[in-house]
Amino acid sequence: AAGGPSIFGVPMKQASLITLTFQNSALILIMHYSRIMAPPGDHRYFASTAVFLNEIIKLAICLTFAVYETSRSLAPQTPATVIFEQIYRSVFSGDGWKLAIPGILYALENTLQYVALSNLDAVHFQILYQLKIITTALFSVALLGRGLGVRRWLSLVVLTLGVSVVSLPSSNANDLAMDIHDFSDHFFPRSMHELGQFAGGVSDVARELTKRGLDSLDGLGSQLTRRSASYEGIKEDLDTGFEMNYSVGLTAVLVSALVSGLSGVYFEKVLKDSASSVSVWTRNIQMSFYSLLPAFFIGVIVNDGDEIAKHGFFDGYNSIVWLAIVFQAVGGILTSLCINYADNIAKNFATSISIIVSFVFSMFVFGFSVNLSFVLGTALVLLSTYMYSIPERKRGRPPPISIAS
Ligand code: C5P
Repeated sequence: AAGGPSIFGVPMKQASLITLTFQNSALILIMHYSRIMAPPGDHRYFASTAVFLNEIIKLAICLTFAVYETSRSLAPQTPATVIFEQIYRSVFSGDGWKLAIPGILYALENTLQYVALSNLDAVHFQILYQLKIITTALFSVALLGRGLGVRRWLSLVVLTLGVSVVSLPSSNANDLAMDIHDFSDHFFPRSMHELGQFAGGVSDVARELTKRGLDSLDGLGSQLTRRSASYEGIKEDLDTGFEMNYSVGLTAVLVSALVSGLSGVYFEKVLKDSASSVSVWTRNIQMSFYSLLPAFFIGVIVNDGDEIAKHGFFDGYNSIVWLAIVFQAVGGILTSLCINYADNIAKNFATSISIIVSFVFSMFVFGFSVNLSFVLGTALVLLSTYMYSIPERKRGRPPPISIAS
């Protein structure tokens, strides 16, 4: 919007979306690098400590900006105490409690992402996590009253498909059939033969069950879990030596996609509903308060407390882990700026495009080769971006001269 806030002459809306695109591409590369690197020592770092530190770093950055903003709005020589008092008042008065909902939801989402990525390979995760595009749109309609026409809904489905296709494992043959085969392999038993065996197995177990009673239910559960563990998952298990549980990973990524839509849209609702203009920095500080508490008490103390007491808070940390945490914190702030100056749906377009950008970088850095699924997926993502961004057609023709009365 002309006349709105801008940075270096670029409107904040575009600036935040473009920055998020590149930031998220870098984050994907760092995450990939941290995964292919051997972990230091024999322990993986505690996810709960990473989530907690992420929140601390975000809070520090937002406080810095809030101090800067507040000091600018006051007289040049205002003492620091006055500045902090002003920030304190804006954070702890009014409707700050509303941020409890997205704060707790984001903490949950961030934790679930670690659970998902520890139990699922990156490809499964990336594809399934794209469902957040649809959940975000659904919550935008339900909570913000956004009207999305048929074309925009369609473009969101195309976007979800496009990002999923880009994330498909690359095959040597530039052959889509291969990719589709790979894809179905990831989700379904390897062949119809195996499907038959699987069904046979299940009915065997069921027969056993009725014979022996319910105490073999545990056995059935673990047998089914083992069955559904993907080939990729087993391979990764062997590679890293960490146990993966496919059903846990699957549940975590699906709930995470749902929570992503809800938390983002709720944050947007608080930002845009309030009559008094509370800055996005203040909103982030308010939210930090509600994210930090569960991140510390539930994550660090209750969940990992015993293990952390044994091995130490920073067990398994190295420079790459730190880099990933800092990048995630910066990403969170950029996300909040995109939600503030644009909206959640536009933010999802930015992160979708970043998957393509990171792939292009990976070709140079990790020697990835272009395959048909990448080209096809990229085409779908670009098509959907175009479909979404052309303005909605008005009913009837607009008057040739702008409103005179
Ligand atoms: O995938 P999604 O867009 O939901 O991820 C958003 C990320 O941005 C989460 O990690 C969340 O913690 C972070 N975020 C934040 N502060 C906000 C909004 C989002 O840290 N105000």
